[in-house]
Parts: sequence; structure tokens; C-alpha cells
Amino acid sequence: GTTLRDLAEAKGSYFGTALTQSNLSSSTITAIAGTQFDMVTPGNEMKWDTTESSAGNFNFGPGDQIVSFAKAHSMRVRGHTLVWHSQLPNWVSSLPTAQVQAAMENHITTEATHYKGQVYSWDVVNEPFNEDGSLRTDAFTNAMGSGYIADALRTAHAADPNAKLYLNDYNIEGLGAKSDAMYQLVSSLKQQGVPIDGVGFESHFIVGQVPSTLKANIQRFTALGVNVAITELDDRMPVPASAANLAQQATDYAYVVNSCLAVSGCVGVSQWGVGDPDSWIPGFFSGYGAATMYDDNYQPKAAYNAAVTAL
Ligand code: XIL
Repeated sequence: GTTLRDLAEAKGSYFGTALTQSNLSSSTITAIAGTQFDMVTPGNEMKWDTTESSAGNFNFGPGDQIVSFAKAHSMRVRGHTLVWHSQLPNWVSSLPTAQVQAAMENHITTEATHYKGQVYSWDVVNEPFNEDGSLRTDAFTNAMGSGYIADALRTAHAADPNAKLYLNDYNIEGLGAKSDAMYQLVSSLKQQGVPIDGVGFESHFIVGQVPSTLKANIQRFTALGVNVAITELDDRMPVPASAANLAQQATDYAYVVNSCLAVSGCVGVSQWGVGDPDSWIPGFFSGYGAATMYDDNYQPKAAYNAAVTAL
């Protein structure tokens, strides 16, 4: 059939979406998710504030629900995310620095062991960089310096040796200071034999502003011997959406899908959410929306047709 997932699979790729626990109670959302997409990223359910909101007390119920939906619809799961400065419970950031490494390793080991064999990949560390390419200052760098990243990857690999291990960030999709920093980091991790399988380009784009160096940037990362995934694609515009912006969005989606398909090490594209009503964009970027392939009534937009054509 003409679905995103069938077309992607025919090319050895996948097309993913993000789903939250609340999305699972919408039959409109689940009907599209389970037929059009073959990869799921939990929107929030595997983040530290959900999975270990107080020290040593783990809650995998919400994440398990996403995994169970994925299994029922023959979808794989991108685990997201083990270590991140955001959606991090206060108990972690207020730990004495001498206790942060043990807390991080315990969190990674417990969560990755729980989901062992059930996730295709892990975003082991999410959003480690500032815009200028310096490492973000957070509980982890304060306690361990830049070495926390290698430590997190090694810990995740020990818990689930078959999961593909990713570093994921935004504004690294084109060539620039921030993507240079990620490139240098991955290069150095590979040289040291640290387990790393891929880099996630979040790809929260603005209509008409997708970097023209996307494909070249995918190519230079894959040349290091890692995969690239487009992990959180959306393409926002001022709302109400204009016809011109919706047409440009279709061009943008085709460009992103084509750029990934053109490089064999680019494993697949995931959109962040199913449709405009469940997208995070209006809540985080005031005045913006209409960022996905499905409109306010969950009807496919021009961007959907463009993705189908590109696949
Ligand atoms: C977003 C979720 O969609 C929101 O529901 C939540 O309130 C904040 O986080 N980069 C990421 C994702 O890696 O985890 C973020 O998800 C969007 C930006």
C-alpha cells in the first residue's frame, strides 16, 4: 500500500513518529501512527523525570505502554533518552558532585536493562552542546567533565549490547560550529573505541530554512563510521498557515527525505508527533505551528504527499 512505512521499508529505511501516553487514547492518532509509521519514539515516557522521579524508584509503566503499542503494530522503538539536562528531576541536579556518576550509571543500567531487546536504539545522551559548540554545563559536566559522555555510552552498551547507541542534538543538521563540535566528539569517541553507533539530527526546522548543507553533513558523519538518523522532524511556520508556507513545507519535507535516502548510512526519518494538533510546536514556539504532515483534522497535507513522492 502507499504508506510512508511501506515505501520506506522498500528502500531499507523506516519512517517514524513520536507518541506520548496520552496520544494512545486517541483513536485518530493511533490509527495513523499504526499504519503510516514503523518506528516510535516515546515523546516523554522514557525521560528521567518519568522513569526515576526519585532516587532509585523506577517507573517504566508509561514507557511500557508505548513499547506495547509499537509491538502490536510491528513498529520498532527509538529509546529516548537516558541522559539529558532537561526533564531531569531536581534530586539529580542537587546531588553532591561525587554522587552524580553513580546515579547516572545506575539510571542508565536500570533503564537500558529493563528495555533490553525491546528498543532498536537509545538516544544515550541528548542535547550535550551549546550553540557555539562548547559542552553544556549541567549536573553531568559539573561532576565528570566531558568524560560523562563516553561513560554513559559504555554503561548503556554493557546493559544492552544490541541497541544502537546515539548522541542526539538540534541545530547540528547543517555545517556549523555546533555540528563541528558533534563531529569532533564522535571522531574522538570512535578513535578511543567507545561504543557509538549513530548521531541523531533532531531537525526542528523553520519553513524555508532547512540547511542546504544537510546532505553534505550527513555524509561527513557517516564517513566516520556512524549512522545518522533524522530523529524529530518538524517544520514550523507562523499560524494561521499560508498556502505559500504549506507549499514550501512540502518542498522542505521532500528535501529532508531525499537527503537521508541519498546517503546509505542515514537509516531513517522520524517526525516529532503525528499531526499538527499533537505537535509540541505551538506550546514551545509562540505564534508557530502547522509543523507536521497532518493538518488540524488529521488530513494529510502537501508535506505528506511530498514525502510519499520522495520515498
Ligand atoms: C519535548 C516534548 O515533545 C514535550 O512534550 C516536552 O514538554 C518537552 O520535550 N528535543 C527533544 C525532545 O529531544 O525530547 C523534546 O520533546 C523536543 C526537543
